Amino acid sequence: MHRQAFDQPDYYVANCRAGLEPVLERELKELGCEIAFVGTRMVAFHGSVEDFYRANMALRTAINVLRPIRKFRAKDYDILYFQARKAPWHKLFEVDKTIRIDVKGQSQNFRNSQYTVHRVKDAIVDTFRKLTDGYRPSIEKREPDVHVVAFVHRDEVTLYLDGAGEPLFKRGYRLEHGEAPLKEDLAAGLLQLAGYKGDRDFVDPMCGSGTFLCEAYLLANRIAPNLNRHFAFQNWLDFDEAAFERARQSLIERQQEAAVAFHGFEEDAATRKVLERIVVDHFGDDPAFRIHPHRFQDGDETFAQSLVVTNPPYGVRLQSKEGDLNRLYADLGNFLRHRCEKSTAAVFSSNSEALNALGLKVAHKWKLYNGQIEARLVQYRV
Ligand SMILES: C[S@@+](CC[C@H](N)C(=O)[O-])C[C@H]1O[C@@H](n2cnc3c(N)ncnc32)[C@H](O)[C@@H]1O
Repeated sequence: MHRQAFDQPDYYVANCRAGLEPVLERELKELGCEIAFVGTRMVAFHGSVEDFYRANMALRTAINVLRPIRKFRAKDYDILYFQARKAPWHKLFEVDKTIRIDVKGQSQNFRNSQYTVHRVKDAIVDTFRKLTDGYRPSIEKREPDVHVVAFVHRDEVTLYLDGAGEPLFKRGYRLEHGEAPLKEDLAAGLLQLAGYKGDRDFVDPMCGSGTFLCEAYLLANRIAPNLNRHFAFQNWLDFDEAAFERARQSLIERQQEAAVAFHGFEEDAATRKVLERIVVDHFGDDPAFRIHPHRFQDGDETFAQSLVVTNPPYGVRLQSKEGDLNRLYADLGNFLRHRCEKSTAAVFSSNSEALNALGLKVAHKWKLYNGQIEARLVQYRV
């Protein structure tokens, strides 16, 4: 039983993109966290500070994990400032840390998000100035030490510290990419929606710079995607190094070597080079990665009882080389039918006409967004 004061929520909030909430919820449960509630693009959970660190390192579909600092009601900007002044900023981080403030959510009371940021910034800066002989933290838009998020909803404002700082989809393995890559959190979510558990070979017939392949590899080997990065919470005054090391160690102990392969086809040589470099630089050139340097239509290797997930050109951002998307999708349908027997396949695309050209019976559909583009993940059993 959790009793919480209104102004001091006792849960953490993990944010994700729309449609991935059930996946994020499952991931949190697997980490042993107790779910407080599930909302739009967010899952709130109870846990210790060690759980919070573990969530930051291990969640695949979260964009960030937030720690609430103070929640209050405010009907205008002056009350916002007054209430934000009451948060113990000086106990959370030192004056020499750089900060960035972002506003999320929507409220009639705070329609001007720039001004909302400005007032929260004033509250933080004035708190420090008063206590430190006029010194104040500086604002840094890119890679700040501390990231504050103000979430506004009707007359409620919650101020959070973002544990990650930089979004969690920046895993560090992809500093360069091919055209139209998927974000890592989305790729990891699509794989999990498609039912990938790492117990079967994985195939992406149009793999681009390999986001699905890399995320499938991390998932299958139970490698926490952000095990080796720096987090904003390491800059907080109450950062508990011992708890962080315990969380990290527990994740290392969960790793297991998967006895499966990760096949990717890519026809474009420059894109393939990017993927090959990622495999060498970040995945120890593991031979489990099998990069096929040609179109998926060419060759006759078969992939029975595997899991296929792919994101073909949609015709929005990237045209098929042949210029005929329906032809490409029909070829994909044939590839699945003839070379991926008894497999589960999931295709992520915004082009419903092209999806029909696959000619396969639909088992399940999910609506999601790739950036601004509305798309479907469509599952088939072949
Ligand atoms: C939308 S992108 C995939 C992006 C990828 N999911 C990522 O995150 O990097 C589609 C890729 O399919 C490749 N492609 C198109 N037709 C192909 C074919 N017939 N065989 C293999 N690759 C193909 C394109 O060169 C492009 O890199």
